[in-house]
Amino acid sequence: MVLQLRVYVPEHPLVKHWLAVARDQNTPSVLFKTAMTELGRWLTYEAARQWLPTLETSVKTPLAECAATFIDPSVPIAVVPILRAGLALLEGAQSLLPLASTYHLGLARNEETLEVSCYLNKLPASFDPATRVLILEPMLATGGSISMAMAEITGRGVDPTLIRLISVVAAPPALQKLSQNYPSLNIYTAIIDEGLNSGGYIVPGLGDAGDRAFGTY
Ligand code: URA
Repeated sequence: MVLQLRVYVPEHPLVKHWLAVARDQNTPSVLFKTAMTELGRWLTYEAARQWLPTLETSVKTPLAECAATFIDPSVPIAVVPILRAGLALLEGAQSLLPLASTYHLGLARNEETLEVSCYLNKLPASFDPATRVLILEPMLATGGSISMAMAEITGRGVDPTLIRLISVVAAPPALQKLSQNYPSLNIYTAIIDEGLNSGGYIVPGLGDAGDRAFGTY
């Protein structure tokens, strides 16, 4: 069986609207944060299809018994925001996954060499193999950070088919790297952009997502 990376770009007016707000260089930090929260929410909503485990049972309405589907509370759900920028998507994701555990992963890239290093790792020593993992990484540029995150997560026992990755802007170099190394991964992104500039920034992109979310530019 040949597995192929699946990249979903939801055709949804709310996703398009909040992407446009986030892209606009005149959007102030406070509104940029709102846009990222909303993108986190709607992309998580899309990613949850056929991923959240459900439980078939029945309930009694005031009138009769009927079939009912609940989210299965026995299957662990983990959200992994990649710091810093991934934090901006967290509130939206958590609003739909209130029972998920959140494991922070702090990755920084050297702006000259583009090498990635890990400065914070709150992942558990190992995951329950049934765990569903949602990774929050707004900018898929060179693929350096997401590759390190995938290695850290799958190395702790998570099946890549149970991982969903949400990003806001994805670029071909990162998608190619993920396709080679994690062909069964499912990605949900608001847009796929043309490429990178010489500084490793996505063009047209939205600039430095961390700086814009935290007002540090
Ligand atoms: N990280 C960002 O914040 N923006 C980019 O364009 C690329 C990486």
